[in-house]
Amino acid sequence: LLHLLAALIFGYLLGSIPFGLIFTRMAGLGDVRKIGSGNIGATNVLRTGRKGLAAATLLGDALKGTAAVLIAAQWGPQFATVAALGAFMGHLFPVWLKFRGGKGVATFIGVLIGLKPLAALIFVLIWIGIAFATRYSSLSALVASAATPVVLWLLGEPGMAGTTIILVALLWWKHSQNISRLLAGTEGKIGQKG
Ligand code: G3P
Repeated sequence: LLHLLAALIFGYLLGSIPFGLIFTRMAGLGDVRKIGSGNIGATNVLRTGRKGLAAATLLGDALKGTAAVLIAAQWGPQFATVAALGAFMGHLFPVWLKFRGGKGVATFIGVLIGLKPLAALIFVLIWIGIAFATRYSSLSALVASAATPVVLWLLGEPGMAGTTIILVALLWWKHSQNISRLLAGTEGKIGQKG
C-alpha cells in the first residue's frame, strides 16, 4: 500500500508541472491565466497567437502523464494506473498554483498513451474530427473523453475503463464554464484571440 501511495505522489508531482504557465512566462508573455479562458492549457496558450508555445504546452502536459505511467509501470501494472490518476490530479490540482490547475485534456491523452496507445489514438481521431467540424476545443475534448471508457471496454480493458470514468468526470466538471458557454453559443473557437 505504501508503494501505491508512492506511485500516486510520484505521478502527482510530475503532473503538477504547469508547462503552459512556464512556457508563456519564459517567452515573456506574462501570466496566461489573465487572458482568454484563464486556463493554463494549450488551447488558451494558442490565444496568445504563439502556435509553437501552444504545441510545446500540449506536448509537455501530455508527456508528463505518459512519463508518469511508463515509469510507474516498471513496478507493476497497478502502479501505472495509480500514477495515471496521480498525474491527472496533479495537473488539475497543482499544489504550486493553490490547487487551481488545468482542465486535463492533454494530460488525459498523455496517460492514455502510457496505458493503452490505441485508445489514445482513437481519442485524438475523435478530437480532430469534432474540432475540424466545429472549431471548439472544449467540445472536442468533452466528446472524445466521454467515448474513452467505452473504447477501453471494447478493447478488453474494463479495469482501465473504470479508472478513466473518474478522470472523465473530473474533466467534465473542470469544463463546466465551457459547457455553459457552448450551450449559450458564446464559446471561443480554436485560435480565436481572447
Ligand atoms: O484543454 C482545455 C480545452 O478543452 C478548453 O480550453 O482554454 O478554451 O477553456 P479553454
